[in-house]
Amino acid sequence: MMFGGLTALSDVSLRLEEGQIVGLIGPNGAGKTTFFNCLTGLYTPTRGQVLLSGNRLPGDPAQVTAAGVARTFQNIRLFPNMTVLENVLVGRHVRTKQGPLASLGHGPSFRRGEEEARRHARELLSFVGLGKVEDETARFLPYGDQRRLEIARALATEPKVLLLDEPTAGMNPQETDDTRQLIFQIRDTGISVVVIEHDTKFIFSLCDHVSVLVQGMLLVEGTPEVVRADPRVIEAYLGKPPEEVEAEVRELASEPDGNQRTGRHAAQEDS
Ligand SMILES: Nc1ncnc2c1ncn2[C@@H]1O[C@H](COP(=O)(O)OP(=O)(O)O)[C@@H](O)[C@H]1O
Ligand SMILES: [Mg+2]
Repeated sequence: MMFGGLTALSDVSLRLEEGQIVGLIGPNGAGKTTFFNCLTGLYTPTRGQVLLSGNRLPGDPAQVTAAGVARTFQNIRLFPNMTVLENVLVGRHVRTKQGPLASLGHGPSFRRGEEEARRHARELLSFVGLGKVEDETARFLPYGDQRRLEIARALATEPKVLLLDEPTAGMNPQETDDTRQLIFQIRDTGISVVVIEHDTKFIFSLCDHVSVLVQGMLLVEGTPEVVRADPRVIEAYLGKPPEEVEAEVRELASEPDGNQRTGRHAAQEDS
């Protein structure tokens, strides 16, 4: 992806298997959000392509959503003056047979569709833990809940793939833990997830596979164990002395159940 003379992404490739959680980490300005923008049709990559189950994705955000790729944004983008429930219903409109224009004629089939949409939206709200606040105005929600709401709205489009851009930014440790649990639950429903985060502890305890971007290039990729032990990652990104990281890795390796991180039950507490 080039912007004028600036190469924001160069030869970056990422493969997401069904049912996987993949992490994308890297310093500020590495190109992570730009990568999501290329996947979702917000940007048209200068070269390269995006395939979903072997089919090339259209370069148009609405069509990409319809094809089954949903996302959240680094800077929350809710409809601030709409209620929590209404925000989710917006996501749902992608899947209802009747487009938004159908509301011009409020026939019985329209009403049935709306009831079904509401039922589904409420289900999603309770899934993300916002069941009790459906009538709140979105902008009055605490920050962490706004991030959850954005996830619920993305899920309302019934995606196969969910892209989360810094889902725990600004969250406290408890909210971050809750978000990790939520992402595991989302994966368990059969949705594949790509997560951008700065919090490496979060990423390493969540993901099956991690890719590290630095200055628009893929530096390292692999399992969390491989990535966190790579001297280039330690130097370029983690910024910790290698001995400290080595000690952490040793600790991880000696945990009796330390190998469950790639499994379905990797949601153990961080020690
Ligand atoms: N629309 C754009 N026009 C020009 N430059 C852009 C645009 N979008 C992103 N960039 C540049 O691409 C680089 C990567 O940015 P970004 O993807 O936001 O990084 P990250 O999300 O990893 O922090 C930055 O240098 C940024 O300024
Ligand atoms: Mg970003």
